[in-house]
Amino acid sequence: MAETTLLVSKIKDGTVIDHITGGHALDVVRILGITRRTNGIVLIAMHVPSKQLGKKDIVKVEGRELKPEEVDKIALLAPHASINIVRDYKVVDKKRVKLPSIIRGTVECGNPACISNSNEPVLPKFYVKSQEPLMIKCHYCGYLMEKQDILKQF
Ligand code: CTP
Ligand code: ZN
Repeated sequence: MAETTLLVSKIKDGTVIDHITGGHALDVVRILGITRRTNGIVLIAMHVPSKQLGKKDIVKVEGRELKPEEVDKIALLAPHASINIVRDYKVVDKKRVKLPSIIRGTVECGNPACISNSNEPVLPKFYVKSQEPLMIKCHYCGYLMEKQDILKQF
């Protein structure tokens, strides 16, 4: 975007999640566990014009960095997102999220009869069949899950 205007101000210290697939900012906010009780500045921009994505969302969180598990979840719904660490107003680290071809631990199988939902000590495991639109397949029972099914769990 041409920097004629900055829609949301810069932050001093914290994390900027940029290039979020348009419309998913609030899901990212939920994944980060941000609620009305959370202290600290949070800036959210939705449906911002983007050359790469058409439209993108941005979430800026002052005063914290993300846990690897949070980044893994964001990758599922926003595979083009970048995670920028900001210190004293400067971007000191920039990483693209990466959707692995095998998902372990972050998603549960939606099939109640799946062995990964039984009392057996079986960790859920999925294969990414398609990134956009997202489609993952359970290793154990073959159950297919889309973005909407996964979002319900976050
Ligand atoms: N940003 C911020 N506060 C800062 C520094 C950067 O909110 N103190 C934001 C910018 O507005 C931008 C993101 O962090 O949304 C990444 O910043 P930067 O790397 O400077 O921007 P670009 O070069 O446009 O990033 P990219 O190449 O990833 O699009
Ligand atoms: Zn299953």
